[in-house]
Amino acid sequence: MTTVHHVGNDVIDLRDPAIADHHQRSRFVERVCTPEEVARVAASDDANRLLWTLFAAKEAGFKVVAKLTPGIAFSPRRFVVDAQCTDVTHDDVRLWLEVTQEQDWVHAIAGQGTGAPLWAVERRQPSIGESAAARDLAVRVAADHLGLDRRALIVERVTDERFRDDLGPPRLLHEGEPLELDLSLSHDGPWVACALLGQETPAASD
Ligand SMILES: CC(C)(COP(=O)(O)OP(=O)(O)OC[C@H]1O[C@@H](n2cnc3c(N)ncnc32)[C@H](O)[C@@H]1OP(=O)(O)O)[C@@H](O)C(=O)NCCC(=O)NCCS
Repeated sequence: MTTVHHVGNDVIDLRDPAIADHHQRSRFVERVCTPEEVARVAASDDANRLLWTLFAAKEAGFKVVAKLTPGIAFSPRRFVVDAQCTDVTHDDVRLWLEVTQEQDWVHAIAGQGTGAPLWAVERRQPSIGESAAARDLAVRVAADHLGLDRRALIVERVTDERFRDDLGPPRLLHEGEPLELDLSLSHDGPWVACALLGQETPAASD
């Protein structure tokens, strides 16, 4: 049987004025970061970008841990990001981490196993809502890389009272059947993102 490894991703809009000075808010930084991470942010030439990179890494990690332990609360400081931003650890769960920096956004993917994730970040059309645009992106990425008909793919979240919004994590169905790969969605302002991971996943892509 195929082992499906879990994946989580998070995109953050670095141009959002609402987050522009959070690196100067020590209580916020200390709530999100470990003492070692606080020191790294303080010493950084671009403290705001580093703070939100750490946050994205932690949230990507949370999206994996939430699948392993449904109902767990998100305590960012309990997710520890290494100095190279190559892994994120929560208690005894250690996940690999991939971070991509662009001028306007940062994107983090955390996952289990060794497989290379498929992922994408794109600007959504303003007329399309964030959730719908992220689902559309995930369907296109999966269809293009797996050679499947987009019309046969759908993203669903089933009712699950263990999760905060009473919905389980998203999963991808092909002709009504779950695919043997894991899916993560994220959206922030103009940006939508997805990551997919599974044994059938071919080479990494953006
Ligand atoms: C998962 C979570 C962190 C995402 O938050 P966010 O920054 O608002 O949103 P993002 O855009 O990055 O990601 C949202 C997507 O993550 C996915 N998602 C939601 N809950 C998820 C979970 N438990 N595990 C994995 N993925 C999840 C969904 O696909 C969602 O998009 P959708 O609503 O369009 O389907 C948030 O929904 C959550 O559950 N937080 C926990 C709250 C908590 O523990 N609070 C404790 C006190 S601080």
